[in-house]
Amino acid sequence: MLAEPLVISIVLLAVAVALGYFVFASFWFGAGYQPTPRRSALTMLRLAELSPKDTLYDLGAGTGALVFRAARIYRARVVGVEVEPIRVLALKLRRRFGGPTDRVTIRWGNLFDLDFTEATVVATFLWPAAMERLRPKLEAQLREGARVVSHCHPVPGWTVATRDRATDVYLYRWPEAAPGRRSVPSLGVVEEPERSPHDQHP
Ligand SMILES: C[S@@+](CC[C@H](N)C(=O)[O-])C[C@H]1O[C@@H](n2cnc3c(N)ncnc32)[C@H](O)[C@@H]1O
Repeated sequence: MLAEPLVISIVLLAVAVALGYFVFASFWFGAGYQPTPRRSALTMLRLAELSPKDTLYDLGAGTGALVFRAARIYRARVVGVEVEPIRVLALKLRRRFGGPTDRVTIRWGNLFDLDFTEATVVATFLWPAAMERLRPKLEAQLREGARVVSHCHPVPGWTVATRDRATDVYLYRWPEAAPGRRSVPSLGVVEEPERSPHDQHP
């Protein structure tokens, strides 16, 4: 008789703690969570034309909606970076028990401190303010030929190569996405000067 209210109390307490942590994590790490739906994740990987030659950086990897599909279906090398520790633990457990361990690297940290110059594909599902902050970093670090795929939120100011409206996925190609801005690894982003008519060759 007494067991029933006790079980209900424990379940309610567990739900309250989980919700409390979710809200706390959103404020503390500035990192709200919403997994990419399966269809959108598959569209992101398809539009990015992922192949075993690619190195994909998933910036804000969550619990791995993209990471493990990219490594298993496309056999790409994948680096997932995530700031929130419970999600990092989930990612590491998935990697440890489901693999593939040789192609997946999980990093616990802030994506804004990350060097992703080796990435051939960058994937994001971040809030608009984070996309705004990320743009100059992308421009400084992306190598020629790299692709950026984003779910829900575009890269502000960039020209989209393809947009899949059904799944809300944006594809960008670098440097075509932002002509006139080129990245020089040691200097960061360099604005290309406007050419005057005198500069033109005949
Ligand atoms: C909307 S969720 C998307 C999760 C995942 N990409 C997916 O598709 O399921 C955004 C994720 O980015 C992470 N995140 C937000 N800001 C971050 C930062 N500065 N550094 C690392 N991860 C971050 C959040 O913790 C969250 O897990």
